[in-house]
Amino acid sequence: MKLAFLFFCLAVSTNSKPLSLASVPQEIPVQESTRLYFLTSGPEAELKGFTVKSEKNNIDSNVFAYSVPETDGSLSPLTINVNDTLIVTRPEGSTSAVKLYQDRITRSLNVFPVFEKSSIGFKSGKNVFFAVEKPNGKILTIQNLKVDPQNNGYVRAYSGVPGDLIPQPYMFFNSDVYQNVSFYQQLDIRIDEFSMDPVFTGVSYTVSFGQVTTTLQSSGLIMTPNYPLTLDLSDITFNINRVGDESVSLHMNPFFYRDHVYTTFITVNFGFGIQQENSFPSQLDGRMNAAGTMNSVEVRSSGAYAIQYYTNSTSTNAVGTTLAGQGTTPSIITTTGSSSFIHTCLSFAVVFVSLLIG
Ligand SMILES: *[C@@H]1O[C@H](CO)[C@@H](O)[C@H](O)[C@H]1NC(C)=O
Ligand SMILES: *[C@@H]1O[C@H](CO)[C@@H](O)[C@H](O)[C@H]1NC(C)=O
Ligand SMILES: *[C@@H]1O[C@H](CO)[C@@H](O)[C@H](O)[C@H]1NC(C)=O
Repeated sequence: MKLAFLFFCLAVSTNSKPLSLASVPQEIPVQESTRLYFLTSGPEAELKGFTVKSEKNNIDSNVFAYSVPETDGSLSPLTINVNDTLIVTRPEGSTSAVKLYQDRITRSLNVFPVFEKSSIGFKSGKNVFFAVEKPNGKILTIQNLKVDPQNNGYVRAYSGVPGDLIPQPYMFFNSDVYQNVSFYQQLDIRIDEFSMDPVFTGVSYTVSFGQVTTTLQSSGLIMTPNYPLTLDLSDITFNINRVGDESVSLHMNPFFYRDHVYTTFITVNFGFGIQQENSFPSQLDGRMNAAGTMNSVEVRSSGAYAIQYYTNSTSTNAVGTTLAGQGTTPSIITTTGSSSFIHTCLSFAVVFVSLLIG
């Protein structure tokens, strides 16, 4: 039941020189019941000269015919019925990047190219997204994500797409980790391809390009670029959005890449030099809770992370509502057992915080 898959890059980015190979036909073996999706933002004239042929399948067409999304933003696939060799010919002088994605296993698959001006809504089924443009300074985002955990609505999101091998699609968001949160303002997705599980009830969202999060909202997700493969050092401070001197609770659920060993430090700054530092080894999916009049959170890491979070701040620029949990005694919960080191840090921090606000 392996995924039939081939991820084939017909060309590199537009700023590279055209390869002399470019106009030589590419021969791609294709199997029956495979759906082919052409992902590109290249100009129409060029894509029309980009031919696609399979004699046994009576296909004699061009890439343009398969690269223009339907009104819901998804692509109609080119379906292969008979085993054959597909011959793709790039026109002379063409430099457009064209990716070919193949799948023949995933049920109810929706493939979406994301353009700078795209705003793609949720569609029932397994949804996969490919950035086909790279607008300056913008990243892929999921905005206004609504889930209905009470009615079994859930969302799981993965880096990469079905069929990826190195690494395989890797989870970066799971609405189940916070049963009481039903709305997320923005998930930062600092990768070019991701997928989302099918969901049945009460889910909606918008996928588009947006700005990187610098101030934590009432709920969302932050991520290192190129998750989960990053091995770069990073040190980023996020502001906390809150009203005046209100005391807030902050809940964070980091996802790390378990195949690499590294440590991530999350430091909550409360002002007056008071900090709560928590360290997380990449082998555990730790959780962090903090409460008080906090100003910012610093995340330092030598590897990849995606952190799903929410606060109970009354300050929000959101549409929709966040059903935040009650302010509870901060504690550390990990799926694989908690680390006593982290727990100790947190307990001290809680004492400090209570002194500060008490
Ligand atoms: C098509 O190719 C696949 C994989 O090589 C093979 O298992 C299948 O039997 C082939 N189908 C036909 C009709 O030859
Ligand atoms: C979630 O909400 C329910 C009911 O509103 C409450 O009983 C439960 O303790 C909450 N859970 C968390 C983790 O806040
Ligand atoms: C948020 O949580 C903090 C800490 O538990 C609490 O003091 C505050 O009253 C809560 N705010 C709201 C709006 O529930």
